Amino acid sequence: MCGIFGYIGEKEALPYILEGLKKLEYRGYDSSGVAVLKNGKVTCVKKEGKIKNLEKALEKKDLSGKIGIGHTRWATHGRPSDENSHPHADCKGEIFVVHNGIIENYLMLRRALAEKGHKFHSTTDTEVLAHLIEEHLKGNLEEAVRGALREVEGSYAIAVICSKYPDQIVAARKASPLVIGIEENGTFISSDIPALLKYTSKVIYLKDEEIATVKRKKGHICTLSGKPVKRKPVFISWDPESAEKGGYSHFMLKEIHEQPKAIRDTLKGRIRPDKAEIHFDEMKFSADDFKKINRVVFTACGTSWHAGLVGEYLFEQIAKVMTEVEYAAEFRYRDPVMDDKTLVIAISQSGETADTLAAIEEAKEKGAKVLSICNVVGSSIARESDAVVYTYAGPEIGVASTKAFTTQLTVIYLLALLMGQVKGTISKADIKQRISELLELPQKMESLLEREKDVEEIASRYYECSNALYLGRGKGFPIALEGALKLKEVSYIHAEGYPAAEMKHGPIALIDKNMPVVVLALQGRRYEKILGNIEEVKARGGIVIAVANEGDDDIWEKADEVIFIPRTSEIISTLLAIVPLQLFAYYIAVKRGCHIDQPRNLAKSVTVE
Ligand code: F6R
Repeated sequence: MCGIFGYIGEKEALPYILEGLKKLEYRGYDSSGVAVLKNGKVTCVKKEGKIKNLEKALEKKDLSGKIGIGHTRWATHGRPSDENSHPHADCKGEIFVVHNGIIENYLMLRRALAEKGHKFHSTTDTEVLAHLIEEHLKGNLEEAVRGALREVEGSYAIAVICSKYPDQIVAARKASPLVIGIEENGTFISSDIPALLKYTSKVIYLKDEEIATVKRKKGHICTLSGKPVKRKPVFISWDPESAEKGGYSHFMLKEIHEQPKAIRDTLKGRIRPDKAEIHFDEMKFSADDFKKINRVVFTACGTSWHAGLVGEYLFEQIAKVMTEVEYAAEFRYRDPVMDDKTLVIAISQSGETADTLAAIEEAKEKGAKVLSICNVVGSSIARESDAVVYTYAGPEIGVASTKAFTTQLTVIYLLALLMGQVKGTISKADIKQRISELLELPQKMESLLEREKDVEEIASRYYECSNALYLGRGKGFPIALEGALKLKEVSYIHAEGYPAAEMKHGPIALIDKNMPVVVLALQGRRYEKILGNIEEVKARGGIVIAVANEGDDDIWEKADEVIFIPRTSEIISTLLAIVPLQLFAYYIAVKRGCHIDQPRNLAKSVTVE
């Protein structure tokens, strides 16, 4: 939800900033802009639309200088336009600000500033920051930023430069992410880690209500109230290559193909097949903490919420513990009932989703224990939780989540087994059997990915449809929801996921020869029932695309198209079944000429409410 990037050092700032913004473009691409300081003057260029528009505008300008800031926007306050693009400036054109977040009291502040004679050029909330800093500037930029932020309500990650202070960028955060990257010849600031990987793996995470004065070499961090903060840098182990497309046409396709490796990395060191035991070294909870739990509540948004839905089945079946799943945005305002025997499991790829973060705060206030499942080490959600378990998917850059989902499912399965192990609801032999199946998952997924062409071919027959229905039962239902979400996000085709049995209670009215119905027809307890649902679709002239296990010859007679996945247990089939649905959505979007890695209106990380 908006990306910010800054550089101060010995080299030219602009190339770093543009490269950084391109890496952050997944966070928003309504507009972008840069401001560079040289010889006591800041030059700013900003443009509506993608970064290529900004690059075009920059061809005619000289933006040399060794200190600068940039922004890529996902519009909240003020429609996408050149004027509403960041950086925003004060009246004198000396102070420039980039911002990710929402200034909630901006209207009140704007009115007060206008009465004092400040002139506004945009309809954004951010512009008030530039004018507020101008009001507070009395010889010290950091003090001025601190003074301005004290008047502000809402969320922010900001970077500020001022023509009078050519040796510093002042950065601050509250409820929006910001990292400082340290390199031999300069210092970076960025909304996330992947944008820094090319230059450095040495980073410092800024925490909420902290302000940093970033210099070429030595800078410092203080709290908003002025207390100095000492924080050692951490080293990020992600490979810089992982933030590149590596020969694939889109990040989404690359990340679909990375799933076997991501799952292997996520399993590594956590299971001991010989002992049938599961361990999470980084998790601060003990077996006793787990034993006490009598209720689990998953909370998350979007794809991560779908992972929670699968978790509900797994925790109830394996650990026999009462489990619910809540949208984080609903949970935070619902005044939920919970106590210290409730375990809230927050799931988030980015670790920065505002609603999930707020749900965690609510759960902690109510006395529940919070465990988060995150992909980004040191992210806000990871830090705010009582304990964290990481998915090792590597950076996920495509806006549509793929490898994060399957690694989340892997961790959730392990956690359900661990809780079952601690509570004694599952035998050692059963755990052992399940662990050996789980260890085979990456290889099964690789063989499934070899059949990519079959999915592409099916996609070429349906890419012109306007609607699609996805049906599943049991654990197949969240997979149907996730398959439908993928199609909506990247191809803009209206798609709905439904529990197959519910189809008769309404959606059946939609079925006709133009609407493909994707059915998760996986072997297991509900297989016969799902065949019945396929018959119901066929009887109404519908088209059925079935996802079925290999060796299921009967399905050929019933479905129009079949995508086979390897034959394995019900749970592992669930994890495999999403892969062809990701590919199906991807190839349909390719054939429709959509912007796959940056679908319209979407942003990867939703750090505002
Ligand atoms: C869908 C997608 C979103 C995210 C959601 C939560 O493809 O990417 O629905 O899953 O915004 O994001 P995280 O997991 O980062 O909290």
